[in-house]
Amino acid sequence: MFVTHLECSACGLQYPWSRLQNLCLSCHKPLFAIIDLAAAGRTLKRETLATREKSLWRYREVLPLPGDVEPVSLGEGGTPLLRAEKLGGDIDLWIKDESLNPTQSFKARGMSVAVSMAKHLGAAKLAVPSAGNAGGALAAYAARAGLEGHIFMPRDTPLANIIECRELGAHVTLIDGLITDCGAEIARRKAKEGWFDMSTLKEPYRVEGKKTLGYELAEQFNWELPDSILYPTGGGTGLIGMWKAFEEMQALGWIGTKRPRMFAVQAAGCAPIVRAFEAGEKSAGEVSNAHTIASGLRVPKAIGDFLILNILRQSNGGAIAVADKEMISVTREAGSIEGLFVAPEAAACFAGLKSLRSAGKIRSGERVVIFNTGSGIKYLDCYKDR
Ligand SMILES: Cc1ncc(COP(=O)(O)O)c(C=O)c1O
Ligand SMILES: [Zn+2]
Repeated sequence: MFVTHLECSACGLQYPWSRLQNLCLSCHKPLFAIIDLAAAGRTLKRETLATREKSLWRYREVLPLPGDVEPVSLGEGGTPLLRAEKLGGDIDLWIKDESLNPTQSFKARGMSVAVSMAKHLGAAKLAVPSAGNAGGALAAYAARAGLEGHIFMPRDTPLANIIECRELGAHVTLIDGLITDCGAEIARRKAKEGWFDMSTLKEPYRVEGKKTLGYELAEQFNWELPDSILYPTGGGTGLIGMWKAFEEMQALGWIGTKRPRMFAVQAAGCAPIVRAFEAGEKSAGEVSNAHTIASGLRVPKAIGDFLILNILRQSNGGAIAVADKEMISVTREAGSIEGLFVAPEAAACFAGLKSLRSAGKIRSGERVVIFNTGSGIKYLDCYKDR
């Protein structure tokens, strides 16, 4: 394996990868895995990827985990990139359908890699605060790894996610509050209970799994990145991960300097990144009274806020908020036109695309990618009265 060390994304302090790590001990910001790309590139070649397994572990050399250790895998990654010709109209629109992952969401990518590393480094009990899909994914991979999963979810998390976690054998605690309250509960109890905290960006390897979204996109587009990407942003791990992947691929000599414009899409009832982006701020304040049916976007405060905002600005992208009722109506539009029952988080991106299009921020003929980050099937409560 080619991870040399971990490095703080804010202050640059370095840490060994060979011990379980959470945030930077000095500034309490996320740590990133630094990879020796020159060495990784000696065996990982663009041209021979097609001969490898379909799962995200095809990019093994740029992922953590020693080469002789078996990953905890359920066949995650390798999802289809579908042209959405009818929905796109004069936009060259593509949908990366992440609902085909194990546990029906893109959270499987991060958890496969993070659980593999946590197990390798000796963790026995894994805890996560979750809006729903991350919990399902942790429950599945913890079960597969033979580890304990402890999942803390807001009481109003979609029922499907709660049942899924229980049936996958995890210990589920419902909290009267938001995902931030769930995270605080874990932080309070983890030392006593012996839990390893798997919160998004509070451990270094979920983002490594998520970065494979960027590698796959480049590979599927024959190493030419799209003009714009719309990403439903809660904690922002996928957005941050993709950006890391683009930089790594450039260092590997696989792509040039062109980057997509990155757009964060949030819910009108919880849009801290949109607010901070518009105000020109470097970090985002905490939203009070956060509410939206898109439970994955109900994140009032993201620890990687400064990283997300930096990427949006560096890429000349932006941030946009979408009302719940638009998500609901766009779900049926996308479903009936393109045949995908998308999660409301992804529906927010389709609605966001319309706004960006009418504001002239995305123009005719542009190649745009939207991630269907999860399946609508887990959110039936939102649609039952339609
Ligand atoms: C379906 C879905 N989309 C998007 C998100 C937001 O992902 P991220 O935390 O990477 O911003 C989540 C998170 O729970 C989700 O479940
Ligand atoms: Zn630091």
